Amino acid sequence: METIDELKLILSPEKIKERVEELGVRITEDYKGKDLVVIGILKGAFIFMADLLRHIDLPLEVDFVRLRSYGSSSESSGQISITKDVELSLKDKHVLVVEDIIDTGYTLKYLKEMLRLHETASVRLCCLIDKQERRRVEVEADYVGFEIEKGFLVGYGLDYDEQYRQLSGIYHMSPRYEARGFMPSDR
Ligand code: PRP
Repeated sequence: METIDELKLILSPEKIKERVEELGVRITEDYKGKDLVVIGILKGAFIFMADLLRHIDLPLEVDFVRLRSYGSSSESSGQISITKDVELSLKDKHVLVVEDIIDTGYTLKYLKEMLRLHETASVRLCCLIDKQERRRVEVEADYVGFEIEKGFLVGYGLDYDEQYRQLSGIYHMSPRYEARGFMPSDR
């Protein structure tokens, strides 16, 4: 018998959509008249970033970085490696970093320090989920979608062992069920 995971919906697609729109409107107001570059952190941020950008009604540039800390386990080692760097020039630009989740904080702390070398006009952080349970280093996001106390989360870009990123909602995951071919439907 194949082991599969129990997923419990905690943020519905509708709730996420509504919040992402609110964040987009706020960001639009805050960055009016500024040279904005939005940087997404791969892979987790790709869905959030795509939805958020469509609610930012401003000229902007888009870039991505890829930072890895987890491998295929659910524990952060605190060792961050950069596997894809920024490609645009960030000099004198206002940079908004888009992240799916802040967990230990190691990823964003590392990226903030790295961006200091680029002589940006400013750097702000936008995360969909701020999860405090395992915070190891102090990082504060300027725009937060949801504060979630604890649990292992998947969906809407977030993975477990590279699975579940494509789900439209966000779920608490606990490995439990033994069954075959189960996949939650939230569409
Ligand atoms: C996850 C997540 C964040 C980071 C947050 O990425 O997408 O980038 O961990 O964790 P932290 O606050 O403890 O550093 P991961 O390294 O799993 O890669 P992924 O985005 O490709 O899933």
